[in-house]
Amino acid sequence: MIALGCDHGGYELKQEIIKYLEENNLPFKDFGCYDNSSVDYPIYARKVTDAITHGECDKGILICGTGIGMSIAANKVRGIRAALCGDTYSARVSRAHNNANILCLGERVIGEHLALDIVDIWLKTGFEGGRHKRRVDIIE
Ligand code: RB5
Repeated sequence: MIALGCDHGGYELKQEIIKYLEENNLPFKDFGCYDNSSVDYPIYARKVTDAITHGECDKGILICGTGIGMSIAANKVRGIRAALCGDTYSARVSRAHNNANILCLGERVIGEHLALDIVDIWLKTGFEGGRHKRRVDIIE
């Protein structure tokens, strides 16, 4: 189950990601926000990190204007490895090497098509484990 969250700066891209998830029959839970009225991104970051740390969801996607506020907020939470990605290589390696459990995106930084490619690759890539597990374990 994928947890989704955004602020007003990421609302439109979240709607496109929802369409992608529905078209691909990928289960998700949308933790808001639910329109483009101004809200505070750390509130939505916390809803998504709670869903992951409580075991309701195994991965999350957080979107704000830059993706930076969401990644700073999410990475304050123990057990969360949030990766802000603006390219497909980083998206793939954030899963393969860092076992990232949250993908952060900046709606005002990257275009919709690149964002959807990033989401696609991030969701399809597994953690490689091995020496990368040792490094992630050091973080934890
Ligand atoms: C909202 O204007 C903007 O600051 C927010 O979406 C995000 O970019 C923060 O990091």
